[in-house]
Amino acid sequence: MSTNKNIIGIFDSGLGGLSVFKYFLKKLPQFNYIYLGDNARVPYGGKSQEVIYEYTKEAIDFLFSQGANLIIIACNTASAEALKKIQQEYLPQKYPHQKVLGVIRPLAEAASQNKKLTRVGVIGTKATISSNVYKTEIKKLNPQIKVFQLSTPLLVPLIEEGWAHKPETKNILKSYLTPLKTKHLDALILGCTHYPFMLSEAKKIMGRSCLVPNTGRIIAQSLKDYLKRHLELELTPVFKPTINFYTTDDVKQFKKVGEKFLGQKITKIKKITL
Ligand code: DGL
Repeated sequence: MSTNKNIIGIFDSGLGGLSVFKYFLKKLPQFNYIYLGDNARVPYGGKSQEVIYEYTKEAIDFLFSQGANLIIIACNTASAEALKKIQQEYLPQKYPHQKVLGVIRPLAEAASQNKKLTRVGVIGTKATISSNVYKTEIKKLNPQIKVFQLSTPLLVPLIEEGWAHKPETKNILKSYLTPLKTKHLDALILGCTHYPFMLSEAKKIMGRSCLVPNTGRIIAQSLKDYLKRHLELELTPVFKPTINFYTTDDVKQFKKVGEKFLGQKITKIKKITL
């Protein structure tokens, strides 16, 4: 167990969270990080709320045991199905001085603060969409916005396979987005960690009148603002930051695909069991 608490933990069901982590490294490069991918049990997107909650709790226990003082659940599905219960029940009991954040709130805030948006689409996994969390959060902040949701479950396995830019995958994305196009959306939220790897394809399909924001950039900016407001967490920039990766499955596979997703080398990586 590490005694250094000056660490930000990042959790995802697999590799997709690297689309968010990439922007943490750009905006907040001087921090220590640990990233955990539960690759052995990915995807979470079709699992029940109970199972997603149990898995997320295990991941959080692990990251806190490694010294994280703040954890970002960089997974939409786990943010949708487990975050609230973790914040309201698990943390007060077990980790009253540590914090866990998700990725949905920052995106909902960004959508609701943009005065130009009145019709917003969201795509995500089955679990994220059936939880209604995006709709609930956006409506709480701005009840005038109409939210259109759609689950697009075929995309995660194709992107994991490295097929994001293949014509077959583009066609599937197009089939999913065509009914949403008829809703005349002002913006489309990519509510799943994997989808930003198809950002340019989604932008092309949706056309110029529909904003498709870079979710990782928004989440990273929100973390930056949060750290400024929460000095009590004692997370401070360091001269030589460390980045440690953990996966519950094969290290070689994580490195191979992860380096492409992250756009940089992954050097310190270990396999763990949750
Ligand atoms: N990380 C998940 C999300 O953002 C996608 C992969 C999965 O289904 O576990 O929803």
